[in-house]
Amino acid sequence: MKRIFSGVQPTGNLHLGNYLGAIRNWVRLQSEFECIFCIVDMHAITLWQDPKELTRNTREVTAGMLAAGVDASKHIVFNQSTVPAHAQLAWIFNCVARMGWLNRMTQFKDKAGKHKENASVGLFAYPNLMSADILAYRATHVPVGEDQKQHLELARDTAQKFNNDFGVEFFPQPEPLIFGAAARIMSLRDGTKKMSKSDESDYSRINMTDDADTIALKIRKAKTDLEPLPATLDGLEGRPEASNLLGIYAALSDMEKADVAARFAGRQFSEFKKDLVDLAVSVLGPINAEMKRLMDDPAHIDSVLRSGAERADAIARPIIAEVYDIVGFLKP
Ligand code: TYM
Repeated sequence: MKRIFSGVQPTGNLHLGNYLGAIRNWVRLQSEFECIFCIVDMHAITLWQDPKELTRNTREVTAGMLAAGVDASKHIVFNQSTVPAHAQLAWIFNCVARMGWLNRMTQFKDKAGKHKENASVGLFAYPNLMSADILAYRATHVPVGEDQKQHLELARDTAQKFNNDFGVEFFPQPEPLIFGAAARIMSLRDGTKKMSKSDESDYSRINMTDDADTIALKIRKAKTDLEPLPATLDGLEGRPEASNLLGIYAALSDMEKADVAARFAGRQFSEFKKDLVDLAVSVLGPINAEMKRLMDDPAHIDSVLRSGAERADAIARPIIAEVYDIVGFLKP
């Protein structure tokens, strides 16, 4: 059976990178896979979160997923902390994965920065919790943006080592699903940096909560260079901001990037940006409106999460029971 697991952190606004790199693909994969989508609140607290904000962000990210077209009646949407299997399996994986493997994780280096000694233990062990998220459901496919690829490789290694250590064929090797132009959306202020929730400048990203005027302003202010748009992708060499904006256009319109270049060849960025604003507003506007409507009814969001948690728990619980048996934990 083909089962998807994927997650998003409730650490702030969902942005265009989350939407194009992940959530939009989740929506499209729903017809082909059994899907489990998780708001990973336990991952969020690896960095300090204000408790009230965490609660609000959990609801808002859920609203964003539903507004984008995730179908919580056919598939599962829930927040991670409500299903014990994640923490249970993460501990076992803490004892399977090696320090050396985790030491190589670039995301830890980026997030801990120069203050490694002061980072939480959770931030270091984060990838093991992520492996547990996926493997507690024995998920076979994981749709993510490019930045999660290294964590997925670690999940595969951990699954393999568990199987080898215990002489079983229990965990599958989860396959990453990473799609084209949108797999790595870059900052609007610096085309060499990933668009991210944690960037200080709100002008670096388009949030899924931004209204049409804000989207227009951010795209108008987006960094570009002085050259007109090139006719082919070769002409984007050394032009990260131009490349990023063309990539965003391609992803939003479901076109190939080369076709976007051909369409706008020789035009000025000021002109191109007008078209990009119209396109972005036409795609994000309806999602934004639906998110607002959903956020006005937190009780409904909570009931979606509650129902998802029950169904997620029903899948994970027997898997964890088998893992406990394999490990040799006594069930008196
Ligand atoms: P998070 O919350 O940072 O991001 C959620 C999803 O959005 C993708 N993404 C991007 N895609 C393209 N361009 C960008 N600029 C961009 N920024 C983010 C991410 O790749 C991700 O798919 N560790 C994960 C959450 C997680 C998870 C999991 C994912 C926890 N457990 C199990 C899959 C399976 C994270 O921090 O995603």
